[in-house]
Amino acid sequence: MVASIDSLSYHKPALLKEVLTILEPRSNNNFVDATLGDGGHALAILDSTLPNGRLLGLDADDQGILRAFERLKKYEGRVCLKNYNFNKLEQAVSESQITPISGILFDLGISSWQLDSADKGFSFKDQSLDMRFDSKQFTTALQLINTLEYKDLSSLIYKYGEDPNANRITRAIIKSRPIVNAEHLTEIIQKAVPRRGRKTNPATRTFQSLRIAVNNEMENLEYTLSSLMDFVTKGTKIVVIAYHSLEDRIVKNFMRKESSDCLCPTSILVCQCNHTKKIELINKKVIKPSAEEMLGNPRVRSARLRACVVI
Ligand SMILES: C[S@@+](CC[C@H](N)C(=O)[O-])C[C@H]1O[C@@H](n2cnc3c(N)ncnc32)[C@H](O)[C@@H]1O
Repeated sequence: MVASIDSLSYHKPALLKEVLTILEPRSNNNFVDATLGDGGHALAILDSTLPNGRLLGLDADDQGILRAFERLKKYEGRVCLKNYNFNKLEQAVSESQITPISGILFDLGISSWQLDSADKGFSFKDQSLDMRFDSKQFTTALQLINTLEYKDLSSLIYKYGEDPNANRITRAIIKSRPIVNAEHLTEIIQKAVPRRGRKTNPATRTFQSLRIAVNNEMENLEYTLSSLMDFVTKGTKIVVIAYHSLEDRIVKNFMRKESSDCLCPTSILVCQCNHTKKIELINKKVIKPSAEEMLGNPRVRSARLRACVVI
């Protein structure tokens, strides 16, 4: 079922001006939006690539792709939308036969409607504690929280939630099992880690860590970026917006590696790796949202944009 949508509830595209400045969409150019969401970036790209520029859009969320389909209906014939994880990007590109590709955008993380939705499982009040982008996937957050052993659960909360209270939270969770829903989990965390004047809910980081684990977000990103070089062609721009420091590190390492001519340790005087650079960085320093954008859209505050072009 598609959640009812009015234009006010669409996700606000992050760093839109910056994305367009880098991608420079022009008449008849083709693009890939690997994380379509509500299609905010896609819409702006399609408006700039009239009359025949095409866009391939992917989203792992089966409800999300239907929302985007509704919103982008007016571009029928110019859009090809697929409910695919971006780890199948090469297959999607080949099936769509959209070539050449001027740019690929990854705007990682989660859409506002997913976060606010009563049944996706991402909100503190949700009944399901599901958190799967793709409802065909097997494991939910509820299963993880009720079955992981102490060591695995605390390292998941520490690594993906970057929460210094991971051990304390894990002890409280294990003592209170079975956890029945998100509200229950939130209460347990709030009792274990009092707010003490903090603005954010103490459960925020645990929820984030569960979402990242349920959807294999880091593994998918690492795999997809490393496989890009097998099928992108000269001139294609790659833009990635990350919202988590681990995610951003994966992007940074990928771009550093592929923009280097040699990967040998500095102690080796004559190159033995024969690696050649395949991309040029577009922005040497990471791009962050302006104060003005953060004021209008606080959810964008952790966004970090990196971009490169295939040479
Ligand atoms: C921040 S939102 C994108 C918002 C979009 N740029 C817009 O303007 O509306 C991220 C989207 O990526 C999707 N997503 C996250 N990981 C994905 C993956 N591995 N494959 C495909 N889609 C993914 C989520 O379901 C979500 O809809």
